[in-house]
Amino acid sequence: MTDQLLSQKNILLCITGGIAAYKAADLCSKLVQAGAHVDVVMTEAATRFVAPLTFSALSGRAARVDMWTEAGGQPIPHVQMAAAADLVIVAPLSANTLAKLALGLADNLLTSTLLATHVPWVLAPAMESHMWSNAITQAHATSLAARGALLVGPGEGRLASGALGVGRMAEPVEILAAARAVFARGGPLAGRHVVVTAGGTQEPLDPVRYITNASSGKMGVALAEVARDLGADVTLVHAPLAMPVPYGVDGVRVYTARQMCDAVLDRLPQTEILIGAAAVADFRPAEAASQKIKKTPGQEALTVRLVRNPDILGEVATRRAQTGLPAVVVGFAAETQDLLANAAAKLAAKRLDIIVANDVTEPGSGFGADDNRVTLLFADGRQEALPLMGKREVAWRVLQAAAALGGRTRQEAEAS
Ligand code: PMT
Repeated sequence: MTDQLLSQKNILLCITGGIAAYKAADLCSKLVQAGAHVDVVMTEAATRFVAPLTFSALSGRAARVDMWTEAGGQPIPHVQMAAAADLVIVAPLSANTLAKLALGLADNLLTSTLLATHVPWVLAPAMESHMWSNAITQAHATSLAARGALLVGPGEGRLASGALGVGRMAEPVEILAAARAVFARGGPLAGRHVVVTAGGTQEPLDPVRYITNASSGKMGVALAEVARDLGADVTLVHAPLAMPVPYGVDGVRVYTARQMCDAVLDRLPQTEILIGAAAVADFRPAEAASQKIKKTPGQEALTVRLVRNPDILGEVATRRAQTGLPAVVVGFAAETQDLLANAAAKLAAKRLDIIVANDVTEPGSGFGADDNRVTLLFADGRQEALPLMGKREVAWRVLQAAAALGGRTRQEAEAS
């Protein structure tokens, strides 16, 4: 699927001296694969870690280091590269260059070019913990953030010295997500708050066992990512996931259906679009044993009494009838038979605007898969059957459909 946000964008990828420079090669490759045009500028120190040739080969454009070497008919390279850029990424950003950028110094091609830009900066600092925690570095980082730079990381982990601490460069996927988040500003869902539920709830039997289902959370995570990419403020209320919460998304971890219900209802006054992709247990053990359940000699069976869990989307419908929020509610229906009839019944019972009917018996689709085949059923009777496609693409279709329904914003609901 084309990367709607990065395709055809001109990215100025700046690399400073640090061992994490090797990860910048992966970042460069990912940007190019996403369809971006990438110009690379390196400091002299960066070339000690990775050769400019690596980036020239990956980007298909000559990586630049020297201020004074005329190349490609560009007599003033820093001005031309700055003017062409839609976004600057500095990864890794050393303590030295971070300080220079904060102070507006322009003593090499990289710093001169950045000073000449008028586009957002995504900065991925990478340095030893003590350099990062130094009050001078912190003051410079705060000053850059206050001027609009988006700082990604640094994270905690193993550093070049072998020590463990904060200072590790953010992973290329996080930096890529930050770049997407910048281009998403002003997108069709800008200023809207979207809440997505994801994963399979866990209902405890005892301290070490629980009843759950096969949901990985991939569908919900894809929805959260795409909502973020459309400019929304996104909260992901999730049961344990097989992957991290995406960059820029506010993750709320829960385990049980009741916890998920509370987390969703607490946020309802701020929610404009709610998408329930979680596989929520309809029943839970009536009592969770306080100690591990033991088998006894000769015991052939164990009976567990289950009681109903709250219907989260049902509760939402009741509150929505009074407040008008969320403006749009989308549910999913995972079915093994009578797909459309069962989904239509849930659409009506839960008073949804859209239900995404998911035949989970289809090979390569549904629980745990990377792809999904779904049919969108709308409250007004429309239906849209989609072919098998990646979950991210399904998410685009679902969010486009939700955005097209519009609905009241929080401000409009509060004013009425
Ligand atoms: O997580 P993945 O591995 O990527 O798999 C994705 C998925 C198959 C889980 C997802 O695409 C999906 O279909 N999610 C809904 C799963 C489901 O169990 O649906 P349901 O038919 O039981 O519930 C219907 C709707 O009501 C759902 O939106 C559900 O979140 C919601 N619900 C269900 C029960 C309950 N007590 N409260 C609810 O709000």
